[in-house]
Amino acid sequence: MTISVITMNILNSGSMIKNSIYDCVILPLDKTHNRAGNITIVEGQKNFPFEVKRIYYLYDIPGGGDRGGHAHRELRQLIVAASGSFDVLLDDGENKKVVTLNHPNYGLLVVPGIWRELMEFSSGAICMVLASDKYSAEDYLRSYNEFIQWRSLK
Ligand code: TYD
Repeated sequence: MTISVITMNILNSGSMIKNSIYDCVILPLDKTHNRAGNITIVEGQKNFPFEVKRIYYLYDIPGGGDRGGHAHRELRQLIVAASGSFDVLLDDGENKKVVTLNHPNYGLLVVPGIWRELMEFSSGAICMVLASDKYSAEDYLRSYNEFIQWRSLK
């Protein structure tokens, strides 16, 4: 009896399963090189951590402009600097780190439940996002306070 109660407590303990910024890693993408230039292909789930259901990209970002400033409850994303460079600030409510993206055949995996801000866009930068699901306004945590409260309930 005692053992099963302890087991249930462990299973219910949010801290055992909470994502952290250390789960957000840089992944190399496929690259085929020849004299005519490079091509990167994402096809199905080959060498890729999730099935891509949506792709969107940010461009014509004004100098000094910031994007992001939110977290997702469920969505997984791979963020790629398709052109130019920018920084991604990741925050799990306890730790923060800044990742610079500046090459089109590397992507930053952002797992659910991580606050992110995009900044320091170079001129002409294109931020391409491969996402695990369709757009859902309900999946967003748009205020930092809401994000911290949501994490504390996990
Ligand atoms: P948002 O994700 O808030 O952009 P960012 O955080 O990069 O500044 O999206 C900006 C607006 O575009 C917002 O009103 C929601 C809308 N939107 C869609 O309708 N579909 C999408 O796939 C995305 C990413 C955004």
